[in-house]
Amino acid sequence: MCGISGVVGEGNVIPVLFESIRNLEYRGYDSCGMAVLGGNDIAVRKNTGGVDEVNQKERLTALQGSAGISHTRWATHGRVTAANAHPHLSYDGRFAVVHNGIINNYQELKTLLKAQGVEFQSETDTEVVAHLLANAYLEFGTVEDALRAVLKQLDGTYALAVISPHQPDHIYAVRGGSPLVLGLSPQRNFAASDVNAFLPFTRKAVYLEDGEMAVLTPQGYTLSRLADGALVTRPPQMIEWDAETSRKGGYSHYMLKEIFDQPHTLTNALHIPRVEIAALAQSIQQARSTTLMGVGTTYFVGLLGQYAFSQLAGVLVQVISSDEFPEVAVVGPGDLVVAVSQSGETYDTRSAVELAKTSGARTAAIVNVMGSTLSRLVDQVIMQGSGPEICVVSTKAALSQMLVLVRTALELGLANGRLTPQAHNAWLADLDAFPDQLQKTLNEMSGFVRNLAEKTAHFQNWLFMGRGIYYPMAMEAALKMKEVTYLHVEGIPAGFLKHGTLALVDEHFATLAFFPPKAATRLHQQTLAAVEEVKARSGPVFGIYQENDHEAAQILDGGIALPVLPAGVAPLMSLVVAQLFSYFAALKLGRAIDKPRNLAKSVTVG
Ligand code: M6R
Repeated sequence: MCGISGVVGEGNVIPVLFESIRNLEYRGYDSCGMAVLGGNDIAVRKNTGGVDEVNQKERLTALQGSAGISHTRWATHGRVTAANAHPHLSYDGRFAVVHNGIINNYQELKTLLKAQGVEFQSETDTEVVAHLLANAYLEFGTVEDALRAVLKQLDGTYALAVISPHQPDHIYAVRGGSPLVLGLSPQRNFAASDVNAFLPFTRKAVYLEDGEMAVLTPQGYTLSRLADGALVTRPPQMIEWDAETSRKGGYSHYMLKEIFDQPHTLTNALHIPRVEIAALAQSIQQARSTTLMGVGTTYFVGLLGQYAFSQLAGVLVQVISSDEFPEVAVVGPGDLVVAVSQSGETYDTRSAVELAKTSGARTAAIVNVMGSTLSRLVDQVIMQGSGPEICVVSTKAALSQMLVLVRTALELGLANGRLTPQAHNAWLADLDAFPDQLQKTLNEMSGFVRNLAEKTAHFQNWLFMGRGIYYPMAMEAALKMKEVTYLHVEGIPAGFLKHGTLALVDEHFATLAFFPPKAATRLHQQTLAAVEEVKARSGPVFGIYQENDHEAAQILDGGIALPVLPAGVAPLMSLVVAQLFSYFAALKLGRAIDKPRNLAKSVTVG
């Protein structure tokens, strides 16, 4: 959702504040703004556009001050306008507020404030907070007490950062359902939506829990509970990621960099200690039922996991999209819910886990971001170690999550006797060899993938299809393609085709078929048959197949012939090729690849 960052330090902090909000731009990029404490006033500059664009329009970096807050927005309440951009000022100009989250009861509060004569400048839910603070300060006399009083009136989710000339050189930051983390250094202190904001300046972090308030000064900070004001002591942790890891490193886009990072991130996933993987497998073995859960890409990761558990361990697990979990899940004591999330902050997934916990189920998670809410919420966590994923669309994080689930399925298969130790070891050897094969394929095949993407970029409609474990691959690939190209892309299990989707096919409707290896005879024949069905309706069909697959090569209008790989890793390779295909298609179409329109990296509202 939105990104917030606040910095307080010795001297002028604005260059640092600007860099910190720029580092969070992937969280939202409709508009951006900054509020800076100077003397007895607050200067606010904001406008629509990304961070650099707003800087050009408003000269954010020309501001000066030793404390400031900033925001990059992904619109929820109110259109994308300069007035709706954060920060928002109170009617008396004495409080500036940035917010990530949603205040559910803002209309009610707005009506009350309007009745008191307060004039609103924006359509946002956030603006009520600024005005309420001005009122509460009159009553309570300190910023801290005013903030506590205002928070009692809010219903919803928030991470808020507040500055006021009533208390110069202070930043107030509170967390109630949206992520917030402090960055600490001798020169300056930060409060931000995530650690990427301050990694170039410090790796020392303290994560806030819901219901906590931090008060930052140039010299340090205090942390307290909102409910009773009791001080909280929490040792800082050192963040392992460094800022360099999250830079583009010469690639034209983060998406491309992150696709090419995958041999490395898969190696990290292979190095997750076996004992952790085995512990998750054991939880599944002991559970009455297991549900895999994620949303968007992580739902498709779960779907891949479902096939892996069935095929490797003979255990059928359920997969539920987190947003639908409250409607359909039936879990309780004895059941296990395994959430998958890159950010660890996704509202739908977090709230589904909370519901599962309340229902008495055991919870586990595969998460990328250290210290994230989800990683701290669950009973059992596997940190996947993929490093920062900056592009809004998920690539490297998803592939590693898939690998973690395959590893877990292998452990379970070994534990429940479905796999012999020899078969288990052979699988592990295939997985171990995969990062190098992937590196080689990326190096050798990217040009071919680019050619295919450019050749087919005129198609407005696509069908991505696969059978068996290639079905989740096709679904995830279709989501990638939609996200970055804005084209209409349907992902389906190829068997569905003749049950309806075939009606869409004509010579303008392109298909991308995901072929299993020839050795998977039944699946391979079924995939070929589906392709024939499309071809018979004059539909152009392209495919991702293995280089020994002459039947596929003959029937297709074009495609990518991949090296022959073991059955266990071949689907993952197909997915990487499809990621690249989406990237190059989007490049050809001139799309905003790292920040596709209407999306945000971390969807922390419901
Ligand atoms: O951070 P999470 O993995 O929980 O995010 C889940 C989805 O929001 C995310 O996968 C989304 O679908 C991405 N845009 C996919 O590229």
